[in-house]
Amino acid sequence: MPIKVVISSLSLFSLLFYSLLLLLLHPAIARGPHHSSLPSGLLNATAHSGPARLLFQDTTQPHHSDDIDRGYMTNSELEKAVKDFGDRCGSISRIYSIGHSVNGVPLWVIEISDKPGQEEPEPAFKFIGNVHGDEPVGRELLILLANWICDNYMKDPLATLIVENIHLHILPTMNPDGFSLKRRGNANDIDLNRDFPDQYLHFADDIPFMKSNGQVNFQFFPVNNDMDARQPETIAVMNWLREIRFTASATLHGGALVANYPWDGTEDKRRYYYGCPDDDTFQFMASIYSNSHRNMSLSKEFPGGITNGASWYPIYGGMQDWNYIHAGCFELTLEISDDKWPNAIELPTLWEYNKMSLLNLAASLVKVKAGRTFADYHRLIPPAERYEVVATMPGYKSKTTCISLGETAMTLDFILDPEIPTMTYLHSVNNDCHCIESGKPSLERFWRLHSEVYLILIAILALLCILLKRRIKSNMLNHKQLPKRSAQT
Ligand SMILES: *[C@@H]1O[C@H](CO)[C@@H](O)[C@H](O)[C@H]1NC(C)=O
Ligand SMILES: *[C@@H]1O[C@H](CO)[C@@H](O)[C@H](O)[C@H]1NC(C)=O
Ligand SMILES: [Zn+2]
Repeated sequence: MPIKVVISSLSLFSLLFYSLLLLLLHPAIARGPHHSSLPSGLLNATAHSGPARLLFQDTTQPHHSDDIDRGYMTNSELEKAVKDFGDRCGSISRIYSIGHSVNGVPLWVIEISDKPGQEEPEPAFKFIGNVHGDEPVGRELLILLANWICDNYMKDPLATLIVENIHLHILPTMNPDGFSLKRRGNANDIDLNRDFPDQYLHFADDIPFMKSNGQVNFQFFPVNNDMDARQPETIAVMNWLREIRFTASATLHGGALVANYPWDGTEDKRRYYYGCPDDDTFQFMASIYSNSHRNMSLSKEFPGGITNGASWYPIYGGMQDWNYIHAGCFELTLEISDDKWPNAIELPTLWEYNKMSLLNLAASLVKVKAGRTFADYHRLIPPAERYEVVATMPGYKSKTTCISLGETAMTLDFILDPEIPTMTYLHSVNNDCHCIESGKPSLERFWRLHSEVYLILIAILALLCILLKRRIKSNMLNHKQLPKRSAQT
């Protein structure tokens, strides 16, 4: 039985980013890992912010001046912009809603692709803006992004690449009610970026009000199960991720200038660098954004313009960690302007500053071609001299190949021979490579896939070797600095 594993890489301007794309037979496998036993967040949403977060309670005063609105689209203007886009660029887009806000505003999504709405063996990327109501720059930039891609399709290679090779889904605003109220939370004043299930438990002794209550006021949700206590906007996004298997994504925030990557939360609630199993990939991904940005990488506060979330300030119930753990989606949290709500006159500048970053990040997911009978699994990995790719499937003999991810796209085809059933596993060799040590157990934890006979199961192992290690370390692994934080973003 032929199994196809595709590894691609692409040179984007001076930046290099590589995706390892594995094709599977069964779509259910490709939906990514799930961990039904993981604990999630608290019932009481206030408690989603740990003690540190209480220091940062909504510091932004509501704006009541009309001046602040000037130049920004209202929610109805945004809706019109989305629909106008759908009319104008209908051949490469599809408009759909993933649900409604508390106040009933549709959460519109623009999907951009040469085959919008169709299942294709191509990676999907999503951008989400305006998670925090008082951070409206993202919603404006995302509309500009969609229109730029439409205007430049078949003219600009990057626009063409995005349209033809990925499915780009854009949710300009996740929090239209918060926007119209000019505040961080939604209409129930819940911070949506603290409303997702979290991997860590929050116990009463960490949370002052719980102590004073003398009451254990929390409950653990089975992951992706009881959603009643969550906000409709959160539920909409969670359901969306069940529908569409996103490979990577980014949310746009304001209040700082940095590309933030998992983990956002630490187990003990303290602040320190807490890398996830795909830390190298995330650093690379964040650096694509930062290095493509006009001046993000020049940050004095954040070396290279990127930061591990927990080393900046831990949060719980955020969308980023949830995407990674529960949806297998590599998500960045992008802080795109120091000023949360700048004068609209600055929007064209902010667009220019962020345009290449947004495009390069989306385009970093590379094209895959496969027969119609194949589903696909896409895996982001940074460049390295040596990767070992293992294709396994119960009932078939696993095969392994070693590759070097250089500057050109790479396709791997596997044809497996029938044999006795084998366990699925992620496997490492090459003891010279120290980088794998932290990655291996977690890779197993997060990427172990199960399937039936006749369904293909492919697992990969990424070995990051000396060159990459040296390069990344020298460039990005300077996390000693713990920048001070002035406002919640
Ligand atoms: C959470 O608990 C606090 C303190 O007991 C309370 O004031 C608040 O209303 C609760 N929030 C919800 C959503 O239950
Ligand atoms: C980036 O440019 C903006 C706009 O000119 C400026 O406000 C900001 O301080 C700059 N940031 C860095 C890190 O250079
Ligand atoms: Zn924010």
